[in-house]
Parts: sequence; structure tokens; C-alpha cells
Amino acid sequence: MAAAIPAAAIDTVTRAPVAIVGAGPAGLMLAHLLGRAGVEAVALDTRTRHEIETTQRAGILEADAARDLVETGVGDRILREGHEHTGVELRFDGRAHRIDFQGLVGASTWLYPQTDVFVDLADARERDGGIVHFGVRDTEVLDVDTATPRVRWTAPDGARHEVRARYVVGADGSRSMCRDLVPQQRRVRYGHEYPFAWFGIMAEAPMSAPELVYAHSEHGFALISRRTDTVQRMYFQCDPQDSVDAWSDERIWQTLQARVAGEDGFRLQEGPVLEKSVLRFRSFVQEPMRWGSLLLAGDAAHTVPPTGARGLNLALHDVKVLAPVLLRALGAEGAAALDDYQPRALQRVWRAQHFSSWMTALLHLPPGASAFDLRRQLGELDCVVGTRAGRSHLAEQYTGWPTRA
Ligand code: DHB
Repeated sequence: MAAAIPAAAIDTVTRAPVAIVGAGPAGLMLAHLLGRAGVEAVALDTRTRHEIETTQRAGILEADAARDLVETGVGDRILREGHEHTGVELRFDGRAHRIDFQGLVGASTWLYPQTDVFVDLADARERDGGIVHFGVRDTEVLDVDTATPRVRWTAPDGARHEVRARYVVGADGSRSMCRDLVPQQRRVRYGHEYPFAWFGIMAEAPMSAPELVYAHSEHGFALISRRTDTVQRMYFQCDPQDSVDAWSDERIWQTLQARVAGEDGFRLQEGPVLEKSVLRFRSFVQEPMRWGSLLLAGDAAHTVPPTGARGLNLALHDVKVLAPVLLRALGAEGAAALDDYQPRALQRVWRAQHFSSWMTALLHLPPGASAFDLRRQLGELDCVVGTRAGRSHLAEQYTGWPTRA
């Protein structure tokens, strides 16, 4: 890529072994893991720290990811403020069915919002003297097909900076600019679009259920999650073209109540809606995850629909695999070590692609679905909850897979 801004306009030039474009959970966790091994990466993000902290994202961490945050010294707030969930509830045909993760596969998940994971990582970087630039603009990534890649950006004060790195990691999210640096004729993009989206709300209300409720109904999908004792997080299937303005609090609660209603009389505790948004999603993978000195991690390389809460976990898994590979590549082995990244990361990526799209198809009713489609889905849901193999399959996929050595 040609530099759009002349070198004379650069105010500072520094060196770093690794430059990380994107300082969300994947970018910061990678910087943290490298930092623990004595390798100081530079991370940057176009968003301010405040913007990242206040953008609602998913809320479920695999137990392994939670343990990694604690054991690598990010912090132990998750143990004090997170909630261990030993199962989830599937509701369909107006009835509740619990999937007991602990009983089936001896694993749990943690309810701990992604925004809190981000805050813990950003605080840990600050504590450890890590270099993170938030709120930058005009980011340029240059020369990734050489052994001397560079990243340039404009700081909030207008100064133009360049970092000369040995490797660049693109952890710049689902609208990644880094992934476009893999030449078009050398990359493959796989994807799937869905004819529905999620309407997400934060509501000031007491908790409606102790664990997550994934609800299938003839009116469409709903998910009941939580944040605190007084603030709840919920989602329901909507049209991707829906606008939040068309949804009053009253209409939102009517919709949610209809989707969880059943013969057991289950009802959600209602309260003022504090925040609402339409979350469009898709399934996406770009291969390869490495091009020259550039490596892609997290949503930059792959995104999943939110059903099943794989996205954050997958991003954290990528960097868990990538950190030791980069350390080897910076040492005696050199760039050849990078060949190990994609095979180790990609197996889980495609498993998660399958699980997320399967769980999405299992629980959402596409527009124009027939009575046959609905009955078939109920048959599939019955196979999932009504057989030990079905329950174990869901429990195993939902709680994650072991990291491949
Ligand atoms: C949440 C989000 C998800 O996508 C999911 O599958 C479970 C929980 C959440 O935001 O709490």
C-alpha cells in the first residue's frame, strides 16, 4: 500500500517488536501476554477508551478464558463480580429445559460483560506500563509483505507517529482494514448473511431468571441475560431494517413477554428501557490469517452470529495461540514459526462457525417460515434436550473446546 502521507509529515518514529492495530479485548490481551514475556508491543485503536467501555457487547466467557484472565495476572475482579453459570435454559413450546453443563461435561461459563474484560485489560496495561494509543485516526499499515512493516497514525493532538515493527497484528474488529491488506487474489472470504437481526436492550429491572434463557417461539427468538441485580440485558429477533425509534418500551415488553410465555406462567420482570439497539450480524471467515508480517486475530479474521456467545471467546483463543507463536518468531525460529498460527486457531474458528450458525438456525424462525419449518425446529429442539447426546453436544460446544497444543 502506498503511503498517502509524505514521510516528512511524520513527527515521531519509534520501534517495537510488534504493533497491534485494534485495542479491544483481543489486541489488549495479546499485548498483555507478550508483555509478560518481556516483549513490549504498541497497540492503537481509532476508538477512545470511553467509547469502547460504553459500547454494549456480549456477556459470556468460557471458564478457560476466565481462568486465563486470572492466572496471567490481568486481575481477579471476574471472581468477585462475575457469576459462574453451571447451565443454561432452553425454552420452547412454552416449557423450560435446563442444560446442566456441570453435570454433562464438568464445565461452566462466566457471566462477565465484554466491557468489563476490556476495562480489566486496559487497567492491566496501564499498571504494567504498556503502550496503548486510543482515539487515533488516519491509521496506515505499510509494507506487511516485507520484514520491516510500519504502522502510522495521527494522535488526538494532531501529531503524526510511525512505529517500525517486526510484526503487525490486525485485531481491528469486524470492519477490519488490516484484512484488506491480504491481496485479493491470495485471500478467500467465506460468509453467510441472516434475514434477521437482534434487538438488544438494557433495562432497569430485577433479574427474571438465575441463568440465561434462550427462548424459541412461534413469534421468533428471545434471549434473557443480565448485567447486575438491577440492570438486565435482553435480546429478541427483529428485522435487520428495524429502527430503534419504532420500538416503544411497551412494544418491547409485549414482544419479549410473548416470546417467553408458556404454560408455567413464566413472565419477565419489566422496567424502564435504558438503551436499545439493532444488532445486525453475519458469519464470516477470511483465510489466510497470516500474510507476510501481518497476522489477523479475532473479529478481523472471523465473525460469528451472537447466538451461543462464541465471538469474544474465539478472539481470546486466537491470541492465546498467537502470543507464543509470535514469541518464537521473534526468537531463533524466525518467521517460520508463524506457520503454526493458522492451523491451531482455525480449527476452533470453524467449530465455532458451525456451532453459532447451528444454534442460530435452531432458535430463530426465518421470515416466511412454514408450519413445517416450525414443527421441524421443535423436533430438533426435542432431540437436543430430550437425549443425553443432544444435551452433551450443546454443553460441550457452548462451554468451549480445549486449546490445541
Ligand atoms: C449475551 C450475549 C450473547 O450473544 C449470548 O449468546 C449470551 C449472552 C449477553 O450479552 O449477556
